[in-house]
Amino acid sequence: MTNIVQNHLTRLKTDYKMMSIVNKGDACMANIFRKKRVADLLKETTPLRRTLHTLDLTFLGIGAIIGTGIFVLTGKGALTAGPALSVSFLIAAVCCGFAGLCYAEFASMAPVAGSAYTYSYVAFGEIIAFIIGWDLILEYALGAATVSVGWSGYFVNLLDNIDIHIPTVLTAAAGTTPGVTTLFNLPAFLVVLLITWIISIGINQTKRVNDTMVFIKLAVIILFIVCTIWFIKPHHWTPFSPYGLYSFNHGTTAGIIPAASIVFFSFIGFDSVASSAEETVNPSKTLPRGILLSLLISTILYIIMTLIMTGVVKYTVFSKYLNAPILAVLHATGQTWLSIIVSLGAILGMTTVILVQLYGQSRICYSMSRDGLFPKFFGEVSSRYKTPFKGTWFFGIITALAGGFINLNILSELVNIGTLTAFILVSAGVLWMRKTNPGIHRGFKAPGVPFTPLIAIAFCLVLIAGLNWETWVRFVIWFAIGLLLYFFYAKKHSKLNI
Ligand code: ALA
Repeated sequence: MTNIVQNHLTRLKTDYKMMSIVNKGDACMANIFRKKRVADLLKETTPLRRTLHTLDLTFLGIGAIIGTGIFVLTGKGALTAGPALSVSFLIAAVCCGFAGLCYAEFASMAPVAGSAYTYSYVAFGEIIAFIIGWDLILEYALGAATVSVGWSGYFVNLLDNIDIHIPTVLTAAAGTTPGVTTLFNLPAFLVVLLITWIISIGINQTKRVNDTMVFIKLAVIILFIVCTIWFIKPHHWTPFSPYGLYSFNHGTTAGIIPAASIVFFSFIGFDSVASSAEETVNPSKTLPRGILLSLLISTILYIIMTLIMTGVVKYTVFSKYLNAPILAVLHATGQTWLSIIVSLGAILGMTTVILVQLYGQSRICYSMSRDGLFPKFFGEVSSRYKTPFKGTWFFGIITALAGGFINLNILSELVNIGTLTAFILVSAGVLWMRKTNPGIHRGFKAPGVPFTPLIAIAFCLVLIAGLNWETWVRFVIWFAIGLLLYFFYAKKHSKLNI
């Protein structure tokens, strides 16, 4: 009898132990998925003056969008897809259009700064928000590094034109051009440090500076189109798609989809429009219009430019002009005088993109630090400059070194995979919030839900599939480091613990 009771007691104890383990597990899971509430977010906002209208947002978007993608990556894109590069641009644009509608819905639901990081803190909970924030750092910091490398290509060319020559070893990262010894990209390194300094002392890009730069950028592109369109030789367009949709060429992927995965970089930046929700007049209407208009204008320009580029010269010519493919066209048409103007426009255009990206980077780190997910160091606001000075410099130096030492293609593909992942999470967030919080106020509702986010997710997955496997591996490593940071630091220090 005693044995039976004892056995029963032992079983009960084991069951109890098991139950408490399970409960602890549940609590732990609940912990990592704890959420911020929209109402709390709105309380956190600082009242900024609402001054931005649709046109301002469109200019802001174009300022952040048009840069290295069109001025530099078109060379690699043309070699990957042939003349069908314009179709690759269209595919990437459609992907961004659908993701843009989801961004706009989220932005109008929680019109506060912080972009996808903040949205996912509301929709999915802390761990996903952390991962997105970690992703956005990849997008912004490495994005700025990528653009700085593109900037350097045009800068070196411009100096060459006026007979100033930087030693070749200091013009690119090691291994960039086969047969040419290069070690470090000094111009890229220096331009990032210069812009970091500008941001760290609080000179934000004013609306007027941005508008002027965008105006110059657009003027240069239109000048390029008007001066070169007459030199198109339609036979350069055949075969239009030499590598089809997706194929293998010399051990790497080629075709329209892999090229779309590369030139996707050209559209990155439109999310900066969503981030200005707090300063926008009537955000529910102006935000989506600003996002879609800036995407539409950039897409039209990109498609015209790529048709001209692959029409004026045979696409294979770009293998000799990977740093500054636009110059291949200008040399072929004998308009070298234009190359100085276009180089200057490209340099100015890319400067605004670096500025927006570094600014976005410093503000994401600031938000994550304010939420306790990053050490205080990154969020400490300097009393002198009123900016997160130390954090800005910390990542500024890392970005500058990345621009100096890493090859443009590696950088841009990593940025693309990080951004595509963020897009997937934002689109899934729209679906999730519609299901779990149908009553919440949405200033703007993405049309066609659930199809819009589902199409966005499908396009993002296709573009991720078009990237090289090495990029996936690098991304998984980045992701794993992020998870370690979350479990060993962020989870314990989160403000939601209080
Ligand atoms: N879309 C930006 C560019 O092409 C990042 O430079």
